[in-house]
Amino acid sequence: MCGFTSQLDDAAQALDGASSVLVITGAGLSADSGMPTYRGVGGLYHDVHTSEGVPIEVALSGDMFRSRPEITWKYLLQIGDACRGRSPNRGHEVIALFEQRFDRAWILTQNVDGFHRTAGSQNVIDIHGDLHDLRCLTCDHLERIELDAYIGDEPPNCVLCGAAARPEVVLFGEMLPMDKVSRLEAELRCGFDVVLSIGTSSLFPYISQPVRQVASGGGTVIEINPDLTDVSGYATIALRLGAAEALDAIWSRMSPP
Ligand code: OAD
Repeated sequence: MCGFTSQLDDAAQALDGASSVLVITGAGLSADSGMPTYRGVGGLYHDVHTSEGVPIEVALSGDMFRSRPEITWKYLLQIGDACRGRSPNRGHEVIALFEQRFDRAWILTQNVDGFHRTAGSQNVIDIHGDLHDLRCLTCDHLERIELDAYIGDEPPNCVLCGAAARPEVVLFGEMLPMDKVSRLEAELRCGFDVVLSIGTSSLFPYISQPVRQVASGGGTVIEINPDLTDVSGYATIALRLGAAEALDAIWSRMSPP
């Protein structure tokens, strides 16, 4: 953390002066809970092709789920398995504290582990869904399940009728949930004083665009990521650190409420 003292002070000062904050999170935040990221060394997508000979994005696509659900399930179960036994870290906790600290605080997360809600956050737009939400493909029943259900090779079935089910997560090629997109747009129209981009490669336009929008509105952009990303050029303050240690250090520098 040495060498980042002034950036941490700047980040704390920007947050002390803010009343509205948007926090955008990706797999790098949960990496500090021991979860793999999608891209980069050790990431789930490190191998270009799966053992089925298709890219992971094809294996985890809506088309594949319709034609060969067992292939998509194999990788959904791998992601679920990676979540099991893990829990939110100090970064999730600090972000949850933001809701009491600021007049408006929202989270836009791509993570499907549900850790923001587990850590106590309520204003969560989980744009890629949540593995805890299992929807029956026959009776449409929606059940909140434990991640322990993603164990072994057998997909969890509907708890009511026993038919095949799927988690309410966005597979490649599928539409984003409209209610969540509308919520995000409405909050962006209200504007934010500060946006934090944490642990995401920001490859998707709906993840990078809010950063650009806050920046063009004169807001402060804080990026927390050990590496450069697609939004690094917009960062007013760049913290090339792990998410949990950076957020803890920022929180400890902020003035008491
Ligand atoms: P990626 O795996 O693309 O990027 C993870 C980012 O976290 C990288 O920029 C890393 O440098 C950074 N990182 C790694 N360790 C970190 C740490 N300890 N603290 C902070 N940052 C760290 O993950 P996402 O950007 O979340 O979508 O990926 C976005 C989407 O791609 C996922 O939601 C998923 C995937 O395809 C779907 O499944 C639809």
